[in-house]
Amino acid sequence: MWSLSNVWFMNFLVNSLAGHLPLKIGKLVNLQMLDLSYNQLSASVPQMLSNLKMLQQLNLSNNAFQGNIPTSIGDLASLESLDLSSNNLSGIIPQFLEKFHYLTYLNLSFNMLNGPVPVNKAFANFTLQSFMGNPDLCGNSKLKLPPCPNTTPSKSRKAMFMLKYIISPIAAVILVALLIILSIKRRNSKNQPSSEIDLSINLGHKHISYYELLRAIDILIEVNLLGSGSFGSVYKGTMSDGEIVAVKVFDLEVEGAIKSFDRECQVLRNMRRKNLVKIISS
Ligand SMILES: *[C@@H]1O[C@H](CO)[C@@H](O)[C@H](O)[C@H]1NC(C)=O
Ligand SMILES: *[C@@H]1O[C@H](CO)[C@@H](O)[C@H](O)[C@H]1NC(C)=O
Ligand SMILES: *[C@@H]1O[C@H](CO)[C@@H](O)[C@H](O)[C@H]1NC(C)=O
Ligand SMILES: *[C@@H]1O[C@H](CO)[C@@H](O)[C@H](O)[C@H]1NC(C)=O
Repeated sequence: MWSLSNVWFMNFLVNSLAGHLPLKIGKLVNLQMLDLSYNQLSASVPQMLSNLKMLQQLNLSNNAFQGNIPTSIGDLASLESLDLSSNNLSGIIPQFLEKFHYLTYLNLSFNMLNGPVPVNKAFANFTLQSFMGNPDLCGNSKLKLPPCPNTTPSKSRKAMFMLKYIISPIAAVILVALLIILSIKRRNSKNQPSSEIDLSINLGHKHISYYELLRAIDILIEVNLLGSGSFGSVYKGTMSDGEIVAVKVFDLEVEGAIKSFDRECQVLRNMRRKNLVKIISS
């Protein structure tokens, strides 16, 4: 089953699957939805989950998973819905969950989680319904959770004094020195192309300038328009070396265009089909 790398949806809810989730789950690289709720799966959630970059819905609720919420979940950038409720997960709620752009449903209820509940970004809209039944969560005043115990020791006044009058001036001097060095370096390298920028553009992709693209496709000539959808249009063009290309132009004003682009890249990266064109660059 774990070699079915083209499967998009996997649904085993309400069964009697037991034992640990195999590492081979990492082979299901195209999975978008995984529902294993209401089984008897135990042990920890495997790290290999981080391979499932397409995953939008993950439901592991009502099992007996133990251990921390794995850091591998932090790699699932497309997650929209994450249900880990009614397990035996312990430790803190990892800060990385805050950073998920698309996460609109989260359920961590009925576990053994403790520590502060994040408040920012994705967490702004979650209610107590997502966190109830955990014995020691704290900190998020909007959810009426108790404040977290003060972890700063009583010696903290002395520490504050050190910070304010001794460490801060030293840090400031170092910072100014660094800034000066940086600006000198920058001036020296002004006429050379910055290697940092080159790195990000040349990651295995052809480097095509905007003007080269404009020359290749004449967007004013209607016959070059191959089609348009809600997120943008596709034009036919001919590069200076004669190669015929399709150019997708996104309308970034449309909500969801970037998301659609991310998804498309992920899908195309994992597929090889006769009738699909190869991505040259973006
Ligand atoms: C996860 O599974 C449970 C049980 O099947 C279901 O009640 C719940 O709605 C599911 N969560 C999501 C986010 O789909
Ligand atoms: C939950 O995990 C703890 C160890 O972390 C273990 O002692 C306990 O038996 C587990 N409870 C269940 C219901 O599996
Ligand atoms: C919270 O909900 C509001 C209204 O549904 C929505 O506009 C906003 O984008 C949401 N915020 C996050 C971070 O999801
Ligand atoms: C989370 O799961 C619990 C237990 O199944 C449920 O009572 C609660 O309503 C769920 N929370 C949300 C936000 O759906």
